Amino acid sequence: MKIGTPLSPTSTRVMLLGSGELGKEVIIALQRLGVETVAVDRYENAPGHQVAHRAHVIDMADPAALRALVEQERPDIIVPEIEAIATDALAEIEADGLAEVIPTARATQLTMNREGIRRLAAEELALPTSRYAFAESLNELRMAIDGGVGYPCIIKPVMSSSGKGQSTINEPEEIEQAWDYAMSGGRIKGERVIIEELIEFDFEITLLTVRARNGSGEIETHFCAPIGHRQVNGDYVESWQPQMMNDTALQRAQEIAASVTGNLGGRGIFGVELFIKGDHVWFSEVSPRPHDTGMVTMASQYQNEFELHARAILGLPVSIEMNVAAAASAVIYGTMAAKGIAFDGIDSALQDAQTDLRLFGKPEAFEQRRMGVALAYSNSTHDARQRANHAAAQVTPIKA
Ligand SMILES: Nc1ncnc2c1ncn2[C@@H]1O[C@H](COP(=O)(O)OP(=O)(O)O)[C@@H](O)[C@H]1O
Ligand SMILES: [Mg+2]
Repeated sequence: MKIGTPLSPTSTRVMLLGSGELGKEVIIALQRLGVETVAVDRYENAPGHQVAHRAHVIDMADPAALRALVEQERPDIIVPEIEAIATDALAEIEADGLAEVIPTARATQLTMNREGIRRLAAEELALPTSRYAFAESLNELRMAIDGGVGYPCIIKPVMSSSGKGQSTINEPEEIEQAWDYAMSGGRIKGERVIIEELIEFDFEITLLTVRARNGSGEIETHFCAPIGHRQVNGDYVESWQPQMMNDTALQRAQEIAASVTGNLGGRGIFGVELFIKGDHVWFSEVSPRPHDTGMVTMASQYQNEFELHARAILGLPVSIEMNVAAAASAVIYGTMAAKGIAFDGIDSALQDAQTDLRLFGKPEAFEQRRMGVALAYSNSTHDARQRANHAAAQVTPIKA
């Protein structure tokens, strides 16, 4: 494996499609290995734009615009960071041998739509999932719930992320509102919804799973220690590592993760989301890229999830070892809608020597927009969570 010199004809060039906080860290990890980086997003001065060699603003859902930019930049490797991409254009780019798509174009196509990945996991790979059905009208939605999914259930647009358009309902009277909410929250208007049985889990985890080349050049699968997290309205507010769990459940979780990532193929990190109750494990969904809850690894592993992704992408060996007993992350929200905000209380947050901060540098804040994250490590997850939450609470967004 060779890496050339950035900004020269020998450069190894990687293009990030989506340059938010996760892409920014992947870019930093790649830069440290001497890779030339190109950051793409839908708006100017996205976090990743601020650290890449070159930045572009395009509509990544527009196949022609995406193809044109790839032809202009000629990256060796394309790394999708978000789901809302013209994935059919990626498939063509891959088929034409123009660039390698991480982990594979097919994986990005299957995971951008809840229907694709759910049918693969449940129907093809026979992995345990919640009961589910799909609907494309209010009437079909009623029939799907009465016909088997039952109450309580969760209704989600098939194309959405971060809990957008999702609601949990307990009785027929709530169906119409859930349908309207799903229709307003989807990425594409008029999309289908998935209806899922609500799983009453003990806890949920992200199992970061890395497919990377070993010394013999073969792909090997590595599992990071499980990450526990807490979601509010479908969006992550804090995460910790390791999440304690029994050996049977951990083994099942790893088998499920190996099965789904093995099918998706390619190289890179995957965030496999699982629900755990006693010995039972349900597959929920998978991101073929670093996971937001995995930001905790910036405080817990020798190679954090972004470095693992960068290494795996480049065909390099990886280590998933932790370097502390426990760590946690806690989200810092915008708390207001304004451009160019400031953050007060950074000094207070960092008084605790076991804490750290990442401020993403997003040009515009919204009330619920993730603007930064506090990190902490300790000898127990309980203490690490307290420290991370305390640090996050010290940081106050203010109008500059
Ligand atoms: N079937 C389910 N049973 C219980 N909780 C669920 C279920 N589906 C989703 N959730 C909760 O909602 C969160 C977000 O749902 P998810 O399907 O992961 O959507 P997103 O793609 O927006 O992350 C999950 O992390 C979990 O806390
Ligand atoms: Mg999720």
